[in-house]
Amino acid sequence: MDTRGISIHPLTPVIGAEILGVDLDKPLDTDAFQAIHEALITYQVIFFRDQDISVEAHKKFGSLFGQLDIHPNDPGLEGHPEVMIIHADENSKRIAGETWHSDVSCSETPPMGSILRLYEVPETGGDTLFSSMYAAYDALSDPMKLFLDNLTAHHDGGPYYRSVNTRIGRNEEGRTYPTAEHPVIRTHPLSGKKALYVNSMFTQSIIGLPKAESDTILEFLFAHVQDPAFQCRFKWKKNSIAFWDNRCTQHYAVWDYFPKIRSGYRVTVIGDRPR
Ligand code: SIN
Repeated sequence: MDTRGISIHPLTPVIGAEILGVDLDKPLDTDAFQAIHEALITYQVIFFRDQDISVEAHKKFGSLFGQLDIHPNDPGLEGHPEVMIIHADENSKRIAGETWHSDVSCSETPPMGSILRLYEVPETGGDTLFSSMYAAYDALSDPMKLFLDNLTAHHDGGPYYRSVNTRIGRNEEGRTYPTAEHPVIRTHPLSGKKALYVNSMFTQSIIGLPKAESDTILEFLFAHVQDPAFQCRFKWKKNSIAFWDNRCTQHYAVWDYFPKIRSGYRVTVIGDRPR
């Protein structure tokens, strides 16, 4: 326990920590905000329990970290376009995030972080896996690091978002999707550490490589990020919150609870252009 009454409990030596002693429904003082921000930068994903907070408080908490983003393919909660509904039940044809990814990496300025609160969870299952892209980078050989260090990759929201829309029967007419080029290895603006920044949801190719080489390298990297040694696994309870740093993590939502209900709200905070 520190002087602010906040305590931090790492989940693994690599990634993830649970934060105790904060009520996110109340305004945070500067010390508490700093403690939470430092924990996010250190542990890459942080978790809170028992946060029965309003949508307004959820948005206000997100806004402390930057401007809230509006998702390019999701209409959001009525009256709150910055709030994404995360929901699955017996009628669901898909769930959000069932592939390893960093949120909306197809944007020129992808979200720095995402904050998800679940208010209804299945009795078992529905965990979210988080993988440290610092650990993924560090585990590469020196020659591979050198090779990837100056490469950029093409990210495109179209293929994934179109497949989602087809599955749920959402009209595709007139829709356009973000695309962007980002470094394959990015440097976190606050920690200064290098992180692998390609993901199987949005990264289509490595620029300047022939297709066969690009496909082979990406296939290797997409498998590499799934190493359990880079991961933590979060078991949700009602009113838990997960806050992940998209600049240095990927995540995967497990859909092992069909036909049970899992529901919540997510806000994302706009980040910098990756460098
Ligand atoms: C997501 O934001 O990718 C969904 C995560 C989850 O539902 O656990």
